[in-house]
Amino acid sequence: MRAIVYRKYGSPDVLHLENVDKPVPEDNEILIRVHAAEATKSDCEMRSFKFAVKWFWLPLRLMFGVFRPKKTILGGYFSGEVEAVGKGVTGFSNGDQIFGSAGFKFGAYAEYMCLPENSTIAPKPSNISFEEAAAVPLGALNAIHFLNKATIKRGDSILINGAGGSIGTFAVQIAKAQGAIVTAVDSSIKEEMLRQIGADHFIDYKKQNFAKSGKTHDVLFSMVAGISSSECLSVLKPDGRLLLANPRIVDMLRSLITNNFSTKNVDFAFAGETRQELLELKTMIEDGIIHPVVDRVYPMEQAAEAHHTVESEQRLGTIVIAMRNS
Ligand SMILES: NC(=O)c1ccc[n+]([C@@H]2O[C@H](COP(=O)([O-])OP(=O)(O)OC[C@H]3O[C@@H](n4cnc5c(N)ncnc54)[C@H](OP(=O)(O)O)[C@@H]3O)[C@@H](O)[C@H]2O)c1
Repeated sequence: MRAIVYRKYGSPDVLHLENVDKPVPEDNEILIRVHAAEATKSDCEMRSFKFAVKWFWLPLRLMFGVFRPKKTILGGYFSGEVEAVGKGVTGFSNGDQIFGSAGFKFGAYAEYMCLPENSTIAPKPSNISFEEAAAVPLGALNAIHFLNKATIKRGDSILINGAGGSIGTFAVQIAKAQGAIVTAVDSSIKEEMLRQIGADHFIDYKKQNFAKSGKTHDVLFSMVAGISSSECLSVLKPDGRLLLANPRIVDMLRSLITNNFSTKNVDFAFAGETRQELLELKTMIEDGIIHPVVDRVYPMEQAAEAHHTVESEQRLGTIVIAMRNS
């Protein structure tokens, strides 16, 4: 089978097409014919081994290969079809159309991959394409994970920092569906797209610091690395909730004080990425409540170009790599 492989850490050009052995499912696994995978910011970070949050470097390097990558095929979020199932598999059958997360197993940048049947996989929403479905799991699972912690009430004001990315575009739509008044913060090229998916207000972070706007919010959800939690806390209402997808160590430590000695709350727990959440998202997509925002779909041969586009941020929404024409 064909796969997008990288054998050393580095620029997007380390990604290249190779013929590798097609995997064979274990008894508890399904063999997935991958249709598409999202090219995520996390894939780019794993490829270059440069992380916006510096403390990720050491634990991840020890886990994923000190000198070169141990897992040579990236891709954590995908859509596809079940091609074969192991002897012990009961929940899936050949031909099932699915989408999901391979998490830290990666491997979706290939024509085929195997995953245990208890992975975060669900039937693909019936009203979107495979390419659109691949753009859902990372952004939407993370968005719903954090927003569920915020317990948004109708009329609450939420500021979403980094709203134009994979997680942010779903966070805007989910918060809006929950009745929030949404302020989106990102660069100006994303304003129109963000307003179209539900943002009520927009702040161009290159021109204005949201912390100096004079407005306060019930919830602040930030995807941006290196943001100061004390600045974020300063624009929260007295019982406001701060959600950090990219926390610095200092902010994690400071949250102990905030959570114990103030009426505000800070949360930064990693998303569990459960099947239950994926099924919830499938229903929200089929009911027309949320929709993936896909900017461009690249063929496998242009994987390096796809990563360049993700890194340059000249995109409106997500970038997807198609492993076949669907
Ligand atoms: N905690 C978790 O469980 C978890 C899970 C998945 C991912 N993450 C991390 O979360 C981060 C974001 O994820 P993502 O996939 O949504 O990223 P993404 O698609 O790259 O989106 C980030 C967005 O933030 C914008 N941005 C950059 N600097 C900004 C600033 N100073 N103020 C406001 N907006 C800014 C970017 O636009 P411009 O660059 O054009 O300005 C972009 O639109 C990644 O670093 C990823 O590793 C955390």
